[in-house]
Amino acid sequence: MNIQWYPGHMAKTRRLISENLKIVDAVAELVDARIPRSSRNPDIDGITGHKPKIIILNKSDMADPAANKRWIDHYKSMGRAAIAVDSISGAGIGGLKTAFESILQEKNRRDTERGMKVRPPRIMVVGIPNVGKSSFINRLSKRAGAKTGDTPGITRDKQWIRISGGYELLDTPGILWPRFDDPTTGLYLAFTGAIKDEVYDVVEAGAHLCSYFAEKYPENIIERYRLGDINNMKGYEILTEIGRKRGCIISGGEVDMGRAARILLDEFRACRLGRITLEMPEDYDE
Ligand code: G4P
Repeated sequence: MNIQWYPGHMAKTRRLISENLKIVDAVAELVDARIPRSSRNPDIDGITGHKPKIIILNKSDMADPAANKRWIDHYKSMGRAAIAVDSISGAGIGGLKTAFESILQEKNRRDTERGMKVRPPRIMVVGIPNVGKSSFINRLSKRAGAKTGDTPGITRDKQWIRISGGYELLDTPGILWPRFDDPTTGLYLAFTGAIKDEVYDVVEAGAHLCSYFAEKYPENIIERYRLGDINNMKGYEILTEIGRKRGCIISGGEVDMGRAARILLDEFRACRLGRITLEMPEDYDE
């Protein structure tokens, strides 16, 4: 993710979000559907307080469809609204209007009771870098453009984006940070490409990804790299085998582990190993 988070920067983002919360009606929290826990800002619930909120599992096209459903059911069981979308193709985007309406139902009822006019809702879009906030906002503003025939992304000032149905979106003021306390989070962010390759050990990440596949999705990796029996093989050994199969050989017949790891990570990120979800709700007791 190549961004440094400093306490001062984090305090400023917190403050900006808190101030802007006063002018929005709801919060749309984007996460990467492949890693819904690791791609969440750990403090977001505290920062956004009681504002109506919806969790948007973006990049759902890259995640395991059964896992998308499990995450949505999990959030629902906790009384939270959630929806899966693909901001590139637009799949799932059509369901947003109803989802927004349902989280705002209570507020609209209160406003009506008080004789207040129900105005077009304003929604703040939040999420850590790389979850697809820009793609999501672009997708929605394009829809508005396509529908009305107007110029897409009509703005009142540069932060507000008006979308279909008169909704207005506000991009996160400030950059949110991921969880720092858990090494698995760092690893998953590396696997998905949210952290740039230069800042972690590619071979180590590749070996961990192999172990993950061996445990959770063995057929996918066996099929892709035409591996034999990987039972009882450690991640590093599987990665070595992948390197051998892909001809990543250096002088002396040794496997170029760096190259093997980059091939694996690139292919994983391009979904060549299938639609994969790295973490499930039941992996965590929260
Ligand atoms: P951000 O504003 O939250 O930082 O994320 P951004 O929209 O820039 O998206 C990050 C990457 O994720 C982009 O890839 C984007 O195309 C991709 N992306 C966003 N939403 C979706 C989605 O729903 N499905 C799929 N398949 N991809 C999505 P990129 O341009 O290739 O950037 P990078 O990979 O070089 O960082």
